[in-house]
Amino acid sequence: PLVTSTEMFKKAAAGGYAIGAFNVNNMEIIQGIVEAAKEEKSPLILQVSAGARKYASPIYLRKLVEAAVEDSGLDIVLHLDHGEDFEICKMCIDDGFTSVMIDGSKYPFEENIALTKQVVEYAHARGVVVEAELGKLAGIEDDVKVSEKDATFTDPDQAAEFVERTGVDSLAIAIGTSHGAYKFKGEPRLDFARLEKIANLIPNTPLVLHGASTVLPEFVELCNKYGGDIPGAQGVPESMIRQAATLGVCKVNIDTDLRLAMTAAIRKLLVENPKEFDPRKYLAPARTAIKDMVQHKIRNVLGSSNRL
Ligand code: G3H
Ligand code: 13P
Ligand code: NA
Ligand code: ZN
Repeated sequence: PLVTSTEMFKKAAAGGYAIGAFNVNNMEIIQGIVEAAKEEKSPLILQVSAGARKYASPIYLRKLVEAAVEDSGLDIVLHLDHGEDFEICKMCIDDGFTSVMIDGSKYPFEENIALTKQVVEYAHARGVVVEAELGKLAGIEDDVKVSEKDATFTDPDQAAEFVERTGVDSLAIAIGTSHGAYKFKGEPRLDFARLEKIANLIPNTPLVLHGASTVLPEFVELCNKYGGDIPGAQGVPESMIRQAATLGVCKVNIDTDLRLAMTAAIRKLLVENPKEFDPRKYLAPARTAIKDMVQHKIRNVLGSSNRL
């Protein structure tokens, strides 16, 4: 069935591994991810952004995820990614989501607390868990662009006060990651000392790492080889994701890597087969590319294989 992340996070924290939270927008993406999780016997979070709901329409995504649960027999968390106000969180809770994120990170501390508390109260009364965010990531989030100089890393003392006062179930933190395919200009660097401080102050709160795609060079190269133009793309090194998973990060958010895998496969197929125009002929390899990428991530980076 659809489940909350409560038990998954407890086991992940104890086991020193993390659970992938993958952004979904259509059937092939969902199928590729779920096939990988099933073969790996891995816990799984599927997350839906406001943009995804707008693209596919809420009911299609929900029914596709329900189909995935029924077809795979897996327990899956259905999570709202970056809910920006109480209303969208309420809508998703009423709609059967088992987890929602209220992203009040753009507001001052007290306003973020008040908004998060309001969502926590509504969600908990209905058996739904809540993720909040404190600190600002650099990069692009829907329409909101946070430039590198406006990014603020999470303050550990504030994190402790935030969790205490809101009763939130998990907390997204800013330690140097950012959304999208261009995460670092020079050497990749994350503030692990800060992560350790936060984890020590709130040891019972699962931490969430947004902007955690590794931007696999293999897919960037394929995109560029087959007509794309995405130079200088760089993600979080796999070793850093592994390290974060041992330091209290229980949920690792991944969207960019899915986009790159899918696009690389489609570009290659169409360039090599210019006479092809049956969408199934390019969406099937795209789905396989997603499956293989997610399987690699689960097995070799997140460490969540055989954890059911
Ligand atoms: O954090 C943002 C996710 O990558 C979702 O992106 O809002 O374009 O669906 P989106
Ligand atoms: P990436 O852009 O690194 O995939 O991050 C996705 C994310 O944080 C979704 O909330
Ligand atoms: Na999220
Ligand atoms: Zn995010």
